[in-house]
Amino acid sequence: MDYILNRRSVREFDLTKKISYEELVDLCRYGEAAPSARNQRSREYIILDDKNLIDELSNTSKGSQVLKNCNTAIVVVGRDSSELTTPDMQQADLAAATENILLAATKKGYGSCWIGVYPIKERMEDSKKILNIKGDKFVYSMIALGYPNSNEVFFDKEKFELNMVFHNKE
Ligand SMILES: Cc1cc2nc3c(=O)[nH]c(=O)nc-3n(C[C@H](O)[C@H](O)[C@H](O)COP(=O)(O)O)c2cc1C
Repeated sequence: MDYILNRRSVREFDLTKKISYEELVDLCRYGEAAPSARNQRSREYIILDDKNLIDELSNTSKGSQVLKNCNTAIVVVGRDSSELTTPDMQQADLAAATENILLAATKKGYGSCWIGVYPIKERMEDSKKILNIKGDKFVYSMIALGYPNSNEVFFDKEKFELNMVFHNKE
């Protein structure tokens, strides 16, 4: 369980190493193991290991600059909401999958960083275009992935405070 407590956003990666395609597929599998509203499974994944493409995506926002420092990434894509039973919950489905990938990556010893795309229109449009995504599908998040430069990133300060917790009623 410590990997959950020790997960931290990693923004510096060792570019002499690269996570294999098979491992990236496995991370998507963990993503899809996340719950979804009425099991609607409203997600798809795009694996990126083309550095030129990753660099292009790094220019879509200030937050995506981290992509300049990595050679692999996963893009979490929302399926066309008109095909879903519970479209209002799709964002939650996509967030759950994104977090699952971060946790699985941490457990495997990889560094990861969530890059927010949805609901910022400009980021969504730019990344959709670069990735050639068709129709009403949309980019929800991008996850920078790679071997961390240092393991120290996983041992940061405690975030939890007991005063965040209420008992029965607030
Ligand atoms: C919805 C969301 C969007 C985020 N967007 C970005 C981003 O665009 N760029 C980035 O470098 N980090 C981004 N992050 C990572 C946060 O900055 C990070 O989780 C936060 O500072 C806490 O640090 P930690 O992940 O190391 O615990 C995002 C995180 C979330 C949950």
